[in-house]
Amino acid sequence: MSTDFIEIAKKENPGPKIKYVTALMGKMPFPHDSFDFIFSRNTIHYSKSLLDTFTEIRRIMRPGARFYSQDSHPIFTLFLKQNKDYEKKEDVSFPIQGGQIRVLHPSFTISDYIDAILKSGFKIISYKEYFGRRSQVGEFRIPVTQGWMLEK
Ligand SMILES: C[S@@+](CC[C@H](N)C(=O)[O-])C[C@H]1O[C@@H](n2cnc3c(N)ncnc32)[C@H](O)[C@@H]1O
Repeated sequence: MSTDFIEIAKKENPGPKIKYVTALMGKMPFPHDSFDFIFSRNTIHYSKSLLDTFTEIRRIMRPGARFYSQDSHPIFTLFLKQNKDYEKKEDVSFPIQGGQIRVLHPSFTISDYIDAILKSGFKIISYKEYFGRRSQVGEFRIPVTQGWMLEK
């Protein structure tokens, strides 16, 4: 997570039991079997390798622990792609802060997610597609984000 966000979180939630840590999602400074629940929002799609990321997250979870991730839906990503090819890999440019800044992230298919999730050893508990204010793309109404509930 970005250090700017951590500073805001520290100010807004200074609880003595909360520990704030920044790390790359592919290599986190926690021992194996550390957590009962992990939550991630709008971040997993920045991963360079979904398999490495899911494997690392699962490593730090206790057996039976759950991981909930909500991130960009691959169908939504398709509408950001220059090559207009669902399967072809491309770094897509996503507008944030009202279009003032653009950030790049890789493109993944739903099969990429399922392959990485299952190969990393997770069990899929549920999958949900979310529609939001960006859902209307021309004449299409498409899911914007996806939510995975996974179990170790
Ligand atoms: C769209 S923001 C979402 C932030 C927050 N989770 C939220 O929902 O408001 C994406 C976040 O992913 C972080 N990020 C991008 N690549 C990352 C990586 N390889 N490892 C860890 N964090 C990463 C960025 O620093 C940024 O904080």
